[in-house]
Amino acid sequence: VTAVRIGLLGCGTVGQAVVRALSDGGAPITRASGHRVEIGPILVRDPDRRRPGVDPSLLTTDVGRILDDPEVAIVVEVMGGIDPALGHLRTALGRGKAVVTANKQLLARHGAELLEQAERSGTELRFEASVCAAIPVIKVLRESLLVAEIEALTGIVNGTTNFVLSEMGRGGLSYADALARAQSLGYAEADPTEDVSGADAAAKLAILASIAFHTRVRLDDVTFEGIERIDRDDMTQAQELGYAVKLLAVARLVDGAVALRVHPALVPQDHRLAAIGGADNAVLVQSRGAGQIMLVGPGAGGTETASAVVADVLSVLGTHRGSFLHNALADAGRPVQPPGESRTPFYVRMHVADRPGVLATVAGVFAEEGLSIESVVQRGQGAGARLVLVLHEGLESCMTAALERLRELPEVSGEPVVLRVLDVAGEGR
Ligand SMILES: NC(=O)c1ccc[n+]([C@@H]2O[C@H](COP(=O)([O-])OP(=O)(O)OC[C@H]3O[C@@H](n4cnc5c(N)ncnc54)[C@H](OP(=O)(O)O)[C@@H]3O)[C@@H](O)[C@H]2O)c1
Repeated sequence: VTAVRIGLLGCGTVGQAVVRALSDGGAPITRASGHRVEIGPILVRDPDRRRPGVDPSLLTTDVGRILDDPEVAIVVEVMGGIDPALGHLRTALGRGKAVVTANKQLLARHGAELLEQAERSGTELRFEASVCAAIPVIKVLRESLLVAEIEALTGIVNGTTNFVLSEMGRGGLSYADALARAQSLGYAEADPTEDVSGADAAAKLAILASIAFHTRVRLDDVTFEGIERIDRDDMTQAQELGYAVKLLAVARLVDGAVALRVHPALVPQDHRLAAIGGADNAVLVQSRGAGQIMLVGPGAGGTETASAVVADVLSVLGTHRGSFLHNALADAGRPVQPPGESRTPFYVRMHVADRPGVLATVAGVFAEEGLSIESVVQRGQGAGARLVLVLHEGLESCMTAALERLRELPEVSGEPVVLRVLDVAGEGR
C-alpha cells in the first residue's frame, strides 16, 4: 500500500464532504486501488472558520503549500470561480500533478486549454463532479458508450430550475413564489441568476457535448434561454395540452454538425423526462449502438458531489485489478441476510368459500402471525368468491407461516397467490 497525498483547493460544502469521505486514509480508495490517501494541505480564505471533521492544522491561505509540494500528487479543486482557480490549475497541471475539479464554469470556458496542458505534462484532468453531481454521466459518455455512436443527448441538468418548474406545475405557484420556496429550502442560491438564466445548464451542456461528440464545444457555442418569463398561465396551458414544462439542455448531431441549445420546452407528459421532478437531474442519451439510456439522480449537494470527486480520484489512481472481486484486502465480509428476514408489504389473493365469517377467520390468521391488513376486497360470488388483501410491511417468514395455516383452512381453496408490493417509502434503505 503506497501513500498518495491530495491537496485541496477549497473546503466549503463539497470540500468538507470530500474530507469526510476520505478520512481514515480513504479506506474505500485503499480497497479499490491499493493506495492510501493522505489529505492536505487545504487552501481556504478564512482558516478560522469552523469546519466539522476537518483538521484545522491542514488549512492554509498559501496555495504554494500545495502547488510547490512535490509530495502532493493530486489536486482537488472545489473552490469554484475562474480566478484564481484557473491559475492554480494551470500551475498544478504544469508541474505534473493530476487535477480533479467540480468547477463547470471553469471547464466550459477553459477546459480545452487545461486538457492540453494535462496532456503535455503527461497527467490527467478529471471533472465528473462538474456535471450532475453524483450521476456518473461523464464516465458513461467517455468510457461505457465509447463505441455506441451517440446521436443526441437531452438533459435536465439544473436542479434549481427543475425544482421551480415542478413546484409551478404541481402547486400552481407563480414563478416568484416557486423561486422563493426553492430559496427557503436551499435549492436556489440567494442570487439565482446563473441557474434561472440557463447559464449553468449551458456550461454543463458544453462539457457533456464535448465528450459525447468528441468535439471541443465551448460555452460561447451554446445558445441559452432561461425560465424567468414563464408564468402560471403557461403552466396551466401546457398541462391542458398534455405537456410538462422543463428546462432542457439538448445536443444532437445534425448532418455531422453539433447542434446545441438550452431552453424551456414542452415535454409530453408520458415522456420519460416529464417524470423527473423536484431538484433531480437526468440525462437521456440516444445512440445508434445502445439505444436510449437515461441516467437520473441528484444533481447537487455536498456528499453527492463529493461522491463524484472521490470516484475521479480513484480513476486517477487506477483500480487494483477487479477491486474487491480480485482482492482479499477489499472483501468487507458482510453477512447475507436470510431470505425469511426480508420485509415488504404484500398483496394476497385467495379463493374462499362464500359464507359469513370467512374474512374474520383469514384476518385472524394474519394477525396471529404478526401481519396487519391495510385493505381487503371481496370479489365474486359462490364458487368464484375470492379475497384480495393488501398487508402492511411484514416479515417474509411471517407470511410463510401464515400461508401454511391458510392452506389448512377448509374455507380456503387452492393455493393463495402472494405478490410483494414495491416498498416505495423504503426505497432508500
Ligand atoms: N455545492 C454543490 O452542490 C455543487 C455541486 C456541483 C458542483 N459544485 C461546484 O463545486 C465547487 C465548490 O462548491 P461549494 O458549494 O463547495 O462552494 P463553497 O461552499 O462556497 O466553498 C468554496 C470554498 O473555496 C474556498 N475559496 C473560494 N475562493 C477562494 C480563494 N480565492 N482563495 C482561497 N480559498 C477560496 C472557500 O474558502 P472559505 O471557506 O475560507 O470561504 C471555501 O472553502 C464549485 O465550483 C461549484 O460549482 C458544487
